[in-house]
Amino acid sequence: MSTKFYITTPIYYVNARPHIGHAYTTIACDTIARRHRMLGDDTWFLTGTDEHGQKIERAAQAAGKTPQQFTDEVSAEFRALWEHMGLTHDDFIRTTSARHQKGVQALWRKIRDNGYIYKGTYTGQYCVSDELYVDAEPGAPCPDCGRPTETVHEENYYFKLSAFQDQLVRLYTEQPDFIRPETRRNEVLSFVRGGLRDLSISRSTFSWGIPVPDDPKHVVYVWLDALANYITALGYGSSDPSKFDRYWPADVHMIGKEIVRFHCVYWPAFLLAAGLPLPKGITAHGWLLFEESKMSKSRGNIVRAETIVDVLGTDALRYFLLREVVFGQDGSFSFDALVQRYNSDLANGLGNLASRTLTMIMRYFKGEVPYPSHAAHTSADAAIADAARKAIADYGALFDQYQFSRALETAWALVSAVDKYIVENEPWSLGDKQDEESRSRLATVLYTSAEALRIVTALVHPVMPDSTAKIWAQMGLGDIRKFDLTQLQWGQLRLGTKLGEVQAVFPRADKSAVERMQKMEEQSVGTGASPVQSSEVRPPATTPASQTAPAKSPAAIPDGKISIDDFAKVELRVGQVKTAERVKGADRLLRLEVDLGTEVRQLVAGIAEAYEPETLIGRKVVIVANLAPRKLRGLESNGMIVAASPEGGKPVLASFLEDVPIGTRLK
Ligand code: ME8
Ligand code: MG
Repeated sequence: MSTKFYITTPIYYVNARPHIGHAYTTIACDTIARRHRMLGDDTWFLTGTDEHGQKIERAAQAAGKTPQQFTDEVSAEFRALWEHMGLTHDDFIRTTSARHQKGVQALWRKIRDNGYIYKGTYTGQYCVSDELYVDAEPGAPCPDCGRPTETVHEENYYFKLSAFQDQLVRLYTEQPDFIRPETRRNEVLSFVRGGLRDLSISRSTFSWGIPVPDDPKHVVYVWLDALANYITALGYGSSDPSKFDRYWPADVHMIGKEIVRFHCVYWPAFLLAAGLPLPKGITAHGWLLFEESKMSKSRGNIVRAETIVDVLGTDALRYFLLREVVFGQDGSFSFDALVQRYNSDLANGLGNLASRTLTMIMRYFKGEVPYPSHAAHTSADAAIADAARKAIADYGALFDQYQFSRALETAWALVSAVDKYIVENEPWSLGDKQDEESRSRLATVLYTSAEALRIVTALVHPVMPDSTAKIWAQMGLGDIRKFDLTQLQWGQLRLGTKLGEVQAVFPRADKSAVERMQKMEEQSVGTGASPVQSSEVRPPATTPASQTAPAKSPAAIPDGKISIDDFAKVELRVGQVKTAERVKGADRLLRLEVDLGTEVRQLVAGIAEAYEPETLIGRKVVIVANLAPRKLRGLESNGMIVAASPEGGKPVLASFLEDVPIGTRLK
């Protein structure tokens, strides 16, 4: 009998392009979904994009596009990347789609009709970056992310979140694995025990959202809109609820740890209010860090999946993320570590085991799997069979607890055991001999190695679908996707199986791989990393248009001078420092967030020796606003702060004696 299994990723904001942080969650879910399919479960895997709200509306504005045009483009990029990476989601939901909007409105009506929505007025702070109502004084930063908050004063609809406090506490206590891991559960429990206030669930000062039923001057709060995707994608509120009936409740919502509160408090409360079943569990993983801080679009320290996929292949990225990072904890990404893992575990590990085992079967047995002779059986062979049985059991148990790195360790323990076994049994020396005894010993050693290879390949197929499919085909076993994982046992490899063509699956990566990937990432800054920035940054001075421009008026301008037009190219603006902090490991650098009126920019400036970060907050400064972005210590710097730089002395920031509005241009 098949069990159903429904898994979801968060739906990603379209205010910037995908990076390996998004790929991480999606790959983990893809891997889990693939394993469930291999186990014969009726599996549904959902991902998508979160396209409404003030943050997206502003990103579109900054890019000079309509929100719909903008979200269409970025959402398409997510889909194209997932396709390029061969991910196997069954559906991709967009919150701007008609089916979603209808579903959200149905959910709203249900909650309203059950008496959990009322009208009120909200005055307080809002963090646009988190799309979160926060408890903070006007002008204070967001307690969650530290970015500036905005004061909003609006008539809103409220959700009676406070009515669910006790039910939620009971849920977390009676169903301890509702939130995993444990640390996240404890955080949520103490948050809810601290008291829940009713939640504003509509906005009326902008319009990029789903109209509130029967009161369209309001739009639905973006988190209520977004969370509902998990059911609207199944047809909740539509004329065809068959998928909803078949797959809801979700078996797991997989998320990053920064959105635990929305998923573990708000979402179950909304569902309870609507009288709908709750998901079986929510699992939060940690953050991928790059050069010591969270990889994120606002910091600009992102790495794109495309770069890694192009240089080392999708499987290398999948394996690295699941093997290197302890699921649930933060983990650092680096190109060096990636290439090192690739070479040691894939090129020299699994890849080498596959090619030497299969090449020897080709050479010594004309490409047909030989029969393991009982007469030539030793305790070393039995030890490999036992290790393989143990790997099957342990791998499954660990994987099903989402302990991917430990599961992979058990599979690689088998790879190493077989490597050692091959070295000790020297099949190559046996291969030179023609006597009966040597031949049967050789047959046993190669059968044992090939059978262990088959088992590892089947186990890790969900993690590395492409390369395992190749190894499987080289072993003459056909299409690995048709293999029933519940049947995996030692001893199933059949005598006489004819191998396919044998080829290296993981060619070794040399040192240049790291440089190539780094270069690809540097070149992508300002062009691919963020559509918001790319539209602001004009092409560099090598385009034909700017090459011809100076030639038109050379006569009037003496050597060493520039024209007024040349000066006008430099966009100097007044900005106000919102946050300032030291950059770890760089004595001279500060990371600043500077408000330019239309947007908040991240800058990295070499002024740490002259200014304490705290003294800069609130200060007005002059910024070169149209400088092409560049990376300093892995952080993207979008512009330059103007300072006098005395020879041998400390820099002094340019400033004004009179007050000047933020964003004013200097000319
Ligand atoms: O929060 N490390 O969208 P988002 C690990 N739209 N995972 C990361 C990561 C990193 N550095 N960066 C991103 C939103 N992620 C909302 C969600 S759901 C109803 C609405 C992954 O674009 C991780 O899964 O900010 C994280 O939770 C998610 O992307 C956030 O994506
Ligand atoms: Mg985020």
